[in-house]
Order: sequence, then structure tokens, then C-alpha cells
Amino acid sequence: MKTLVTGACGRIGANLVRRLLADGEEVRAFVLEGDPKVEKLTGTDAEIVYGDLLDADAVLSAARGVDRVAHLGYIMGKPAGMSVATELNINMTGTFNVLEACAAERGIERFLFASTNATYDAFRPKYVPIDELHPQEPHSYYGMEKLAGERMTEAYGRMYGVPWTIVRFGTVPGPDELLKRISAADVAGYLREFGARPGTQLYAQGVNDPAAPVEKAIEEGHEYVVPVGAVGAAGAVGKPWMQDLVDVRDTVEGIVKALRHPNALGEAFNVTGFGVTWEEALAHLSTRTGEEYPRIDLPNTWYWRCDNTKAKSLIGYMPRYTIDRMIDDAIAYAAGDDVGVLPA
Ligand SMILES: NC(=O)c1ccc[n+]([C@@H]2O[C@H](COP(=O)([O-])OP(=O)(O)OC[C@H]3O[C@@H](n4cnc5c(N)ncnc54)[C@H](O)[C@@H]3O)[C@@H](O)[C@H]2O)c1
Repeated sequence: MKTLVTGACGRIGANLVRRLLADGEEVRAFVLEGDPKVEKLTGTDAEIVYGDLLDADAVLSAARGVDRVAHLGYIMGKPAGMSVATELNINMTGTFNVLEACAAERGIERFLFASTNATYDAFRPKYVPIDELHPQEPHSYYGMEKLAGERMTEAYGRMYGVPWTIVRFGTVPGPDELLKRISAADVAGYLREFGARPGTQLYAQGVNDPAAPVEKAIEEGHEYVVPVGAVGAAGAVGKPWMQDLVDVRDTVEGIVKALRHPNALGEAFNVTGFGVTWEEALAHLSTRTGEEYPRIDLPNTWYWRCDNTKAKSLIGYMPRYTIDRMIDDAIAYAAGDDVGVLPA
């Protein structure tokens, strides 16, 4: 069994390559020429092919003779200096080229499209936890591109019989990223970026500088804070913020199950985590650091997660890695230990 993985040296892709190889499968890794992260694949048995997703011939030749395609190659979080037009082109044309190659290569038995919970919109959930019946109404270029990719994937199934599965991941930080992701600096960043945008869960009317209370706590020396929201989605009032953090090993497990399981054919799944509140994350961090982390009452709420019931019942996916384990591994990784997970 041979799988073409695009985005093969990314945060999720490199861990997927490693897992498939460990299971005794063959992997063709599609890597952008000059990507220094290719070193994550050094010493593995992956067949590395260099190419750009914008190069239809390179994509077609990479797909030749493989059994499955896991399409992870994408621009997520546009690098500084890249225009939205370029991001849109890479993401849309790249997905188009991979789907065209799958249509041309008749032997492919599974095309997996790596989608995202951002197709629902993290900041405007209509209910929590979000299942696959929740409206997909993205408010970002990225979410819009992924939603278009989902529709393209389904259309290639109808037009050419491409056997597809769509997996919507949660928020997947690498072991090198997790502690920053839950830091006060990142909380302030979310508030600065989304707290002043009417319509988002993070918006509070009449609050001009939503990040100010967290910035003050940072100035007072607090690296971590528990943000507690006052308003927001039903049930969120007065609760610590919660989001859909998931360990990359769980994401990889979901991808592998979706690639292999017959029930995944023609289905779209959430493959996310347990839903992690800052309160539980920082309670555990506190046991490791001995520090106390203050609660900060905010008028702004961020409270959401996805539901994995469909993936559990159809393909047997269940997240295993708790936030405690993710934090322990992040601390061990920072200390230089091999935790069995490749960094972002
Ligand atoms: N990490 C998350 O939180 C998350 C959440 C939901 C969905 N996803 C999706 O999962 C997939 C993998 O995510 P990740 O976190 O590993 O992302 P990543 O940014 O670490 O990896 C993306 C890869 O795509 C490659 N790529 C970009 N442009 C390319 C081009 N023109 N040609 C060839 N390769 C190109 C990059 O070199 C990189 O290796 C992506 O499709 C992403 O949108 C990720």
C-alpha cells in the first residue's frame, strides 16, 4: 500500500509519514523544493519527490502508481509578504491539481482532503459541541478555501468517481508550539485580532481595547492567565475559555483510520480533541511549574469545540491524548527529550 502525502514535512504531514512507515506501508512524500523542514524525513524510508502544488505535471507524476492520496499541502497562516491572491491560488489550484491527478490515475482507492473546523467558524458557533450538521459558514479566507476544497472534492467524486473522504481537524499545535498557544500573549493576540470585530464570539460591545486586561496581567509578570468569559455561546457565560486543541498523534490516527476504513468513503468527519479549557490546561501546568495562574474576568468569550461522535461510530476514532499528556510532552520536548512527535 503506497500513499502520496502532500505537505509531507509539515506539522501533521511529517508525523503522518512516520506513522504510515511504522505500520509497514510505503510513502511518497511531496515536498516543496527548498523546504528546510525536509530534514524531518531524513533517515526514513519515504520516497521524497520535490514539486510545487501549482505544477500540474509534478503533481500528476507524484500521483502515478500510488494507492492513496492524503492531501495536506496548504498555506495555513499566510507567511508575511505573501498576498491573499497567492494563498488563494496555492490552496485552490493546488487542490485542483491533486484532484485532477486523482481523476487521471484510475487506480487510486482513496483521496483524503485535510479540512478544518474553521469551515464552521470558531468564533460564531451556533451550538457547542459542533457536529457535522452544523452550518459551515467560514469568516476567513482559509476557511472559505477549505470549504471550497470540500465542495471540489465531492464534485470529483460525482464527475470522475474519485473515492474521497474529508477530515476536519481541530487545532493541532506541535509539541514545540503548545505552551505558547495557551499563553497570555496568545490570549491577548486573539483579543486584539478578533475582540473588536462585531459578530464574533470574542466581540463585546463598548469595549474599545479588549486585550487591555490581559496585557496588564502580562506587564505584572504573568506568563499564563485563565480567561473567563462573561457572554457568548449558550452555556458559556462565566466559564473559562475553551477550544478544540488536539494532539497531532490523534490527528494522525484519525487520518489513518479515514484512509483505511471502508465506512469513511464519501463521508466528512470531525477528527478533533476533547475540548480543552484554559482552566484545566493551566491547572496541570501549575502542577509542573509550581506557579499560580490568575483568572481574568473578561467581557469576551471564546468557547467552542467539535463533536467526534460520527468519526467514533463510523471509523472508530477516539482522541486519546489529554491536555495533561500534551503539556507533559511539550515540557519534555522543550527539555530536549524525544517524545515521539515531530515538531511543527
Ligand atoms: N495544524 C492545524 O491546526 C490544522 C487544523 C485544521 C486543518 N489543518 C490542515 O491540515 C493540513 C496540514 O496542516 P499542518 O499543520 O501540517 O500545516 P503545515 O503548514 O505545517 O504544512 C503544510 C505543508 O504544505 C506545504 N506547501 C505549502 N505550499 C506548497 C506548495 N505550493 N507546493 C507544495 N507544498 C506546499 C508546506 O511546505 C508545508 O510542508 C493543512 O491542509 C492544514 O490546512 C491543520
